[in-house]
Amino acid sequence: MGLPDGLPDALRNALCERLGIEVPIFGFSHSVDVTVALAEAGGFPVFGAAREMPDRIEADLKEIRARIGARPFGVDIMYPALAADEPDRESAKAKLPAASVAFVEGLRKKYAVPDQTKPHFFSHVLRNQKLFRDQTEAVLASDVNAVATAVGLPREVIAAAKARGKVSFALIGSVRHVVPALAAGVDVLVAQGNDAGGHTGPVGTFTLVPQIVQAAGNTPVLAAGGIGHGAQIAAALTMGAQGAWLGTAWLATREYHTPPVLLKKVLAATSEDTVMTRAHSGKPCRVLKSAWVDEWEAPGAPAQLPMPYQHALTGELLAAIEEHQVEPLVYEALGQSCAWFNELTTVHEVVERLVRETRAAFAQSSSYR
Ligand SMILES: Cc1cc2nc3c(=O)[nH]c(=O)nc-3n(C[C@H](O)[C@H](O)[C@H](O)COP(=O)(O)O)c2cc1C
Repeated sequence: MGLPDGLPDALRNALCERLGIEVPIFGFSHSVDVTVALAEAGGFPVFGAAREMPDRIEADLKEIRARIGARPFGVDIMYPALAADEPDRESAKAKLPAASVAFVEGLRKKYAVPDQTKPHFFSHVLRNQKLFRDQTEAVLASDVNAVATAVGLPREVIAAAKARGKVSFALIGSVRHVVPALAAGVDVLVAQGNDAGGHTGPVGTFTLVPQIVQAAGNTPVLAAGGIGHGAQIAAALTMGAQGAWLGTAWLATREYHTPPVLLKKVLAATSEDTVMTRAHSGKPCRVLKSAWVDEWEAPGAPAQLPMPYQHALTGELLAAIEEHQVEPLVYEALGQSCAWFNELTTVHEVVERLVRETRAAFAQSSSYR
């Protein structure tokens, strides 16, 4: 990727060597096509399986492997703590407060949301331990190179992944998670700051990363959350991280196949157009601002329910909003990094730009000396 002769390549480090990648750019995505394109661009893709039925996971991982050959990739699964009674979808629905059900019906009418016609994860299953076990089994049975855990740190999953020769990553949002992660044998820590899209903690990326690097000792750390420019990758590497982990970036690529109304909003979004809310899942999550969050945060709205009850309540409506792209309500998890993704591009172009900008940032900072 165009390195001038004689310059040491700050982008080629020990973790790149260990994983067999060309650039330390890690990409989380729910899209098979993004996963494939990022592997081809020399980065390390991590396919998000948390919103997938276990039988789809197997098929998707086979497809990715068939398309990328021996290039490495990972899979990410979420292990959130749930309401203690562990309901299935039907029993959870039976326990929903009447006022909450009426509120959701009111939203459906107010925004004239048509009925859902296609199956969707949010309307067909409910997060519970059985789902997590089935998702984990599908991933462990595959030939994926790495397993990433998020929103929870199940030691047995990390041990099982390592026993099968897979590299283990753990997304963490606080320095207090480092000791348990290292004790569990995690190979790579992903320090995900509050700037990130998705479920995330309260500490900003710039504050979190050096603390985690310091506590991690020899274990490599990746910086995640709000990264959209190579200068931030240079900063992350300078802070001692071994790479950058991006999620929002890929929504603005052709390979993600972002539905049109959502895409328009993502491309127009600035860093001030995302918000932390429990209205998505019941746990704090950074998403694109929309009428969905406004309605749930408005005075008089019912309390957002703990995971997994919020999705038992809203799953059908969320699926219909996505299917029909109901403009005012459409949203997705989105990080403050959206500021850098204003036009539809490709995964390859994103990687190329980030690499170019990272090198330029290093060259500029060394010219000050
Ligand atoms: C649309 C979307 C969905 C996400 N879903 C997950 C998920 O299921 N599991 C996970 O570990 N992280 C998830 N994340 C967070 C990413 O792994 C990553 O940490 C985050 O996107 C980094 O910050 P950025 O959004 O500013 O790039 C998601 C992010 C986005 C944008």
